Amino acid sequence: MASVTSLSASVHQRLASALSAALPEAVDADPLLRRSDRADFQANGILALAKKVKANPRELATQVVSQVVTGDVIKDIEVSGPGFLNVTISDRAIIENLAARYADTGRLGVPYADAPGTTVIDYAQPNVAKEMHVGHLRSAVIGDAMVQLLEFTGETVVRRHHIGDWGTQFGMLIQYLDEHPHELDHKESEVSGEEAMSNLDRLYKAARKLFDADEEFKTRARRRVVDLQAGDPHTLAMWQKFVDESKIYFFSVFEKLDMEIRDPDIVGESGYNDMLAETCRLLEESGVAVRSEGALCVFFDDVKGPDGNRVPLIVQKSDGGYGYAATDLSAIRDRVFNLKAQSLLYVVDARQSLHFKMVFETARRAGWLGDGVKAFQLAFGTVLGKDGKPFKTREGETVKLVDLLDEAVERATAVVREKAEKVGLTEQEIVENGQYVGIGAVKYADLSTSAVRDYKFDLDQMVSLNGDTSVYLQYAYARIQSILRKSGEARPVAHPELELAPAERALGLHLDQFGETILEVAASHEPHKLAAYLYQLASHLTAFYDQCLVLKADTPEQVENRLFLVDLTARTLHQGMALLGIRTPEKL
Ligand code: ARG
Repeated sequence: MASVTSLSASVHQRLASALSAALPEAVDADPLLRRSDRADFQANGILALAKKVKANPRELATQVVSQVVTGDVIKDIEVSGPGFLNVTISDRAIIENLAARYADTGRLGVPYADAPGTTVIDYAQPNVAKEMHVGHLRSAVIGDAMVQLLEFTGETVVRRHHIGDWGTQFGMLIQYLDEHPHELDHKESEVSGEEAMSNLDRLYKAARKLFDADEEFKTRARRRVVDLQAGDPHTLAMWQKFVDESKIYFFSVFEKLDMEIRDPDIVGESGYNDMLAETCRLLEESGVAVRSEGALCVFFDDVKGPDGNRVPLIVQKSDGGYGYAATDLSAIRDRVFNLKAQSLLYVVDARQSLHFKMVFETARRAGWLGDGVKAFQLAFGTVLGKDGKPFKTREGETVKLVDLLDEAVERATAVVREKAEKVGLTEQEIVENGQYVGIGAVKYADLSTSAVRDYKFDLDQMVSLNGDTSVYLQYAYARIQSILRKSGEARPVAHPELELAPAERALGLHLDQFGETILEVAASHEPHKLAAYLYQLASHLTAFYDQCLVLKADTPEQVENRLFLVDLTARTLHQGMALLGIRTPEKL
């Protein structure tokens, strides 16, 4: 279990050590604590331990109960069923623990990971001269959450945006631009993202049309690919224009997504060109790759085509060209040997899982990956339309990401506007909140289901105020802020001496789990579990409001203690949402 340095451990952890200390002999047994409906926690570990030491589980449990020191953390402990332990935590321990978290304003008591290292995250990787679609949304949103989460646990994170900026289509584009030099010229120096994309789109279509119609242009375009690969300066300069124009567009989309993408972290496929030949040489010399029908291939016993023959990973084509795999293998070498990463995380569509499986296995055989360096694909599923089919426009085209984001913001703004008068929002606040709510809704919908599952893109559901949505969480936060604004002289102060109501205990115990949740979610690459934690937190808060008065509580101490509980809830919501890339407006 991770160490908590500056702070008290969670009550869960304190209880686990109290129980371990009460276990007989020096057996290293986990008490296996779970939150439980009957008491605060149930320990199931006695059963396995009894088996190990050949004892009667109920007797052993009774023995443990007699050994356990009650008072500080444990209020009550009893044996139940075949040898479970039901444990009730003291109210004092709950509030004292939360007070320590509250005092740690920057981290809310979230510990650092035991042994942080360096992780390279490959995410937000759109393709040059192409419109971004919902698949790129998923990679960006999930990847950004993983960056925040890992950095928060102390990991050194290197971001890599492996954009598609290389390939044969550039021959056609460059040749066309060379023959029509003014097509990418801008009237003003400042170009908007959408303008940049429409320029590229127009140029791509025109080039394609000519390519299909004119044999001579086709030949010239093919020659251009060779020039590009050979590094001809003029051709490279033209290619750079496409990349730059596309970046203007990418940055505008990422800005809309309220996401920071930094230029030096954009290292696209072209960034590994200089390594490709060496990568192939190393693989061939070590025997990991072999020549087959002129191509350099890696074979796997468990990767076969429908005819039963093995389907290789092609590292170099028979015409000498390098493809996607050679680039990814070179990127692994760069990330392992130059960036010194211990962990490589790829946030990429599940439809590329076979590719990564073969690439990772090849790198393992070559000795680039191994015990000290691990690679993982955080594979995500497909975004579906309301009809449950892959998301397409009525004309069957992929839906533009910008259009979706604009629509989400529009809907959210309408939702915000409805309550604006009551809350007292200015027009500027309405517009700003509309963005936070709309973009938050899209991100949360993506992050709240397990990544590998497909999900339906349903804006009505996403901006709904009820249910597992970001707006619900944002309202929970804003409602607390409104209570804090109305609290007058009363301040949030922890009072460990008070007796807690059941709803306060439930809220408090859940709040106390924040640190462990963050560590687990970061280590397992499962941001949806943080979303689930936050949703439960908001639900506990709702139950608390139903059962407990805050500003009108019985005594001034109780008012202070409840203000303390809601304020810590707000800070926890704020921190958790921020790690998911979602804003929490103060007034909503
Ligand atoms: N650009 C690719 C696409 O749009 C994703 C790149 C994924 N990363 C990688 N290292 N292959 O599908």
